[in-house]
Amino acid sequence: MEKNSQRSQWGSSFGFIMAAVGSAVGLGNLWGFPYKMGKGGGFAFVIIYLIFAATVGFVGLVSEMAIGRKAKMDALGSYAKIDKSAKFIGFMATIVPFIILLFYCVLGGWVLKYAFAYMMELFGSANLGFAGMDGSTFFTTFISEPFEPVLWFVIFLFLTAGIVTLGVEDGIERSSKIMMPMLFAMLLIVVIRSVTLPGAMAGIEFILKPDLSVFSSLESTVNVASIALSQVFFSLSLGMGIIITYGSYMGKEQSIEKSAIIVPLLDTLAAVLAGFAIMPAVFAFGLDPSAGPGLMFITLKEVFASMPLGNFFGFIFFMLVFFAAISSSISLLEVVCAYFIDTRKMKRKNATILVTLLIFLGGIPVALSYGTLSWVKPIMGMDILDSLDFVSEYLLMPLGAMLMCLFIGWKWKPQLIIDEVEENGFKFKYATYYSFLVKTITPFLICFILYKSSIEAIVKYFIN
Ligand code: PHE
Repeated sequence: MEKNSQRSQWGSSFGFIMAAVGSAVGLGNLWGFPYKMGKGGGFAFVIIYLIFAATVGFVGLVSEMAIGRKAKMDALGSYAKIDKSAKFIGFMATIVPFIILLFYCVLGGWVLKYAFAYMMELFGSANLGFAGMDGSTFFTTFISEPFEPVLWFVIFLFLTAGIVTLGVEDGIERSSKIMMPMLFAMLLIVVIRSVTLPGAMAGIEFILKPDLSVFSSLESTVNVASIALSQVFFSLSLGMGIIITYGSYMGKEQSIEKSAIIVPLLDTLAAVLAGFAIMPAVFAFGLDPSAGPGLMFITLKEVFASMPLGNFFGFIFFMLVFFAAISSSISLLEVVCAYFIDTRKMKRKNATILVTLLIFLGGIPVALSYGTLSWVKPIMGMDILDSLDFVSEYLLMPLGAMLMCLFIGWKWKPQLIIDEVEENGFKFKYATYYSFLVKTITPFLICFILYKSSIEAIVKYFIN
């Protein structure tokens, strides 16, 4: 049980790493990374991605873990405790996950629906014409219905909330320790199936052969770099209070530096494996690898429909995507609940009920944003789901991360973070590298993402 005097902690380093990997490995890895890799020159994209992960990603992870573990509060409370004038960054870091949850749970609901449909097929009960419809018809019919997307959204949200109510060690840590190893195992099963399909070679080549033509012009280089950089941010769950909150449950005997290396490695491994799970199969059946967001919900349905034992592999695949999605939404929900628990001194159960209720109410219009409410275009002609994604992921998240680096680098000084990393006799091997990056390159690069991913679009929109 949590008492206010005795704050929750992770039971072990392994548990913390699994929870952080749980947050990191999500729809971004399984769905975003493969298609971005498809558009960004295959292995060329992976290389740029790794460079950004080792620089900007490493700096972000170390900083957030250290801030959280030093202050031992929720994201807003942590910033406020370290520096009153930085409270607004903590506020942004708490509001972003709230907004993301509104649509992440809707997407999670779609994944659940697919997992359920494959399970029904597997047990031989024909599910509302799932097998009979082509991928695209099925998907568009489903997301534009007035009831089903809401239903699956609610189920997904309640499952997330159920785990968060159980607390840090008994809920988040325990579920991650089960789900993450299973996720990797299931991913391997799908990879093996995919790469052994006749005709899979073209897909393997597509991933492994760097297509250097993406670097042939400055414009396309800049484009690919900005996609890779924002993918690193989103994928490592940075800039939205998550790693601060999870870091606040770390004990002083856990190594921040080591965690900041292991988490991105496992996260990238999952993303690359997802590429190997998807691309070879897509090529083997002659489908389009750069189908974009439709890849997972439309193209893959065609893939599983043509594959021997397709329902079985479809079920395994969507279960693993479900594990990835729910462990990410748990981390989002924990940030917001931690605010009510630490700063507002609420009991965990009440905090979870309150936040879940707010997301339930706010999420319904999002679940309807491709159907009943598809006429609502809140921001620059985008539907509700895309508008929320834009504000949170593309605007507030990089803004918060950039401010964090500027505060650490120039106001608090990197030594504050280094001291925290070196608590308990640890040596921060990359301290000089960290200080240099956090002051200069990282805020500059984040500013670049901010410009490429939102400011540029806003300016263009208003000029036209
Ligand atoms: N990191 C997760 C992914 O790659 C997504 C995520 C983003 C999770 C933001 C939590 C917060 O999909």
